[in-house]
Amino acid sequence: GAAVEVDISALQPGEKLTVEWRGKPVWILKRTPEQIASLAKTEPQLADPKSDRKTYPTPEYAKNQHRSIKPEIFVGVGICTHLGCSPGDKFQTGPQPSLPDDWNGGFLCACHGSTFDVAGRVFKNKPAPDNLEIPPHMYLSDSRLLIG
Ligand code: FES
Repeated sequence: GAAVEVDISALQPGEKLTVEWRGKPVWILKRTPEQIASLAKTEPQLADPKSDRKTYPTPEYAKNQHRSIKPEIFVGVGICTHLGCSPGDKFQTGPQPSLPDDWNGGFLCACHGSTFDVAGRVFKNKPAPDNLEIPPHMYLSDSRLLIG
């Protein structure tokens, strides 16, 4: 499949773009400083915080806490690793059992309730077996991203 080039220069903190790559939705989320900081807090609650599982191997350049090349930009496939539904946009603070009060969002798959943090890492005891897939990607410049 052809690689997809995306201009992310207009993307604002907290905004998410969706592009199609190989028939899959790929999310590009520009995380806020609060969302980046939340990644350390979610870690103890995650099933695979270091992205070691191999169903959807995480590229080496994204095997870090933010699962991305640039800490503020998350690039991930928006398809649940359970049975393939597309999780909804970041669910927010509020009475989510087992989530901290200062929770800074993430993704909720409405099909069977899997939840993911803003790096696409799946929470423990959820049906999804793995973190969201990170597609191969690279930056052509500060604002041009190549997916695939
Ligand atoms: Fe997402 Fe089942 S398909 S939780």
